[in-house]
Amino acid sequence: EPGAHVPALVIGTGYGGSVAALRLAQAGVDVHMVEMGMAWDTPGSDGKIFANTTSPDHRSYWLRTRTKQPLSNFLGFPIDKDVPRYTGILDAEEMGGIIVYQGRGVGGGSLVNGGMAVTPKRENFAAVLPSVDADRMYSVYYPRANAGLGVGTVDPTWFETAACYQYARVGRKHAQRSGFPFVFVPDVYDWDYMEQEAAGTVPKSALAGEILYGNNYGKKSLQKTYLASAKATGRVSISPLHKVTSVAPASGGGYTVVIEQLNTTGGTTATKTVTADRVFFAAGSVGTSKLLVSLKATGALPGLNSEVGKGWGDNGNVMCGRANHLWDPTGAVQSSIPCSGIDNWAAGGAFAEVAPLPTGIETFASFYLSITKNPHRAQFSYNAGTGNVDLNWQTAWKQPSIDMAKTIFDKINAKEGTIYRTDLFGTYKIWGDHLTYHPLGGAVLNKATDNYGRLHGHPGLYVIDGALVPGNTSVNPFVTITALAERNIEAIIAADL
Ligand code: FDA
Repeated sequence: EPGAHVPALVIGTGYGGSVAALRLAQAGVDVHMVEMGMAWDTPGSDGKIFANTTSPDHRSYWLRTRTKQPLSNFLGFPIDKDVPRYTGILDAEEMGGIIVYQGRGVGGGSLVNGGMAVTPKRENFAAVLPSVDADRMYSVYYPRANAGLGVGTVDPTWFETAACYQYARVGRKHAQRSGFPFVFVPDVYDWDYMEQEAAGTVPKSALAGEILYGNNYGKKSLQKTYLASAKATGRVSISPLHKVTSVAPASGGGYTVVIEQLNTTGGTTATKTVTADRVFFAAGSVGTSKLLVSLKATGALPGLNSEVGKGWGDNGNVMCGRANHLWDPTGAVQSSIPCSGIDNWAAGGAFAEVAPLPTGIETFASFYLSITKNPHRAQFSYNAGTGNVDLNWQTAWKQPSIDMAKTIFDKINAKEGTIYRTDLFGTYKIWGDHLTYHPLGGAVLNKATDNYGRLHGHPGLYVIDGALVPGNTSVNPFVTITALAERNIEAIIAADL
């Protein structure tokens, strides 16, 4: 309610925000969460909450009039299409040299992502978060995050015969024939449910190509895990379709938070002001960075230091496809949930997920999303002319990622006598180097904040999301974001409340 006072206000309902809300509530603190996206709890006219990848509609994209599909082309044909402008679930945010895909709605990225729940290898952790005690992370916070998220792994016996993982078995064969370690990748998708989908006894989601625009069944998004537990405490309330636009010190202590209420075409229907004793920035790497950079530049939060906006990376994301021989079909029905990867991190700086191409027809294609050790870091800055926050990422900065991914796929192609697909990202374009699914950094731990996410210069303000992570996690990021949030909120509750 306008004019209200809350002990703790959380901006955003993704991984960091959900962990903060649950743990604060369990410690007896009333929490209000503000989320710019929709609640995603009500079926549309087709009886489903979420749209399928094969038929994107108004629900699929955040305030766009045309889809912006990560794979823009297929067999030479562009596949994007017009859709009504709506506060849909996937934001394809164009930030100069890169398109940053993000989830919008209660649950943040957990609504749209593939659910791959990967803990970095212990030996890589020091490079991921150098100021964090790795022993505590691996003995306490990673296990806590994995339990809270409901992480599991495909049954290896079922995997061997499941038609929907033919593509992963082909990926394994090719990886192993070239001498690369092949690993199973854990996921928050309910593996028992997927086996029932394959058996035809339940409504299909992973086996119906659902991913990117939400899963109607099977996936344990934050709505089903952390946020359900948070709501069950009775101390957490959530306002969907509300966007925080300002945070500034209040005269009587605490912070004044300005919030715009949105309608489903993105218009502002009301502007509300509340006060909060503590504010947790959990708007995601881009959302948190944009807020902090503009609040510092406009003088609302003058005490923030010069590290705010720095250290942003794309987790080295780059995509590619390979064209297999006719004796290596990858399957007409592919599970949209990946379950495996090729680990060449130590030797080549690349960890490649064996990804699906759930088109519903046999494509003879192998498709991969690689996470690479890309060294480039970009910076957010306030543009006084437009009032926007810009990011100085350069498209050419993806070249190291391409080179690292090639350490895997050039070798496999040579061994198998195969070539790259050139029809997935445009005409004769091999590399999907225009995007990231994994934005990280912009308010880096122990730089813009102290070693637990307390923002320098303004007591009571915290960062608790992917903005803390300096640009790369060596694997998919959300388990690390969750575990770091668990670590930080424990310290904050113990010392600050
Ligand atoms: P997150 O982005 O989850 O949440 C931020 C929330 O804040 C959003 O709901 C947003 O709408 C809201 N918000 C932003 N600004 C606001 C404002 N001003 N006011 C109010 N609300 C605001 N990772 C992984 O580990 N495994 C995987 O398989 C995948 N796959 C994948 C696929 C796709 C398509 C995408 C887009 C992403 C992934 N990811 C992934 C990445 C993963 O989803 C991502 O790293 C996390 O969601 C980031 O968590 P955060 O808590 O940082 O923010």
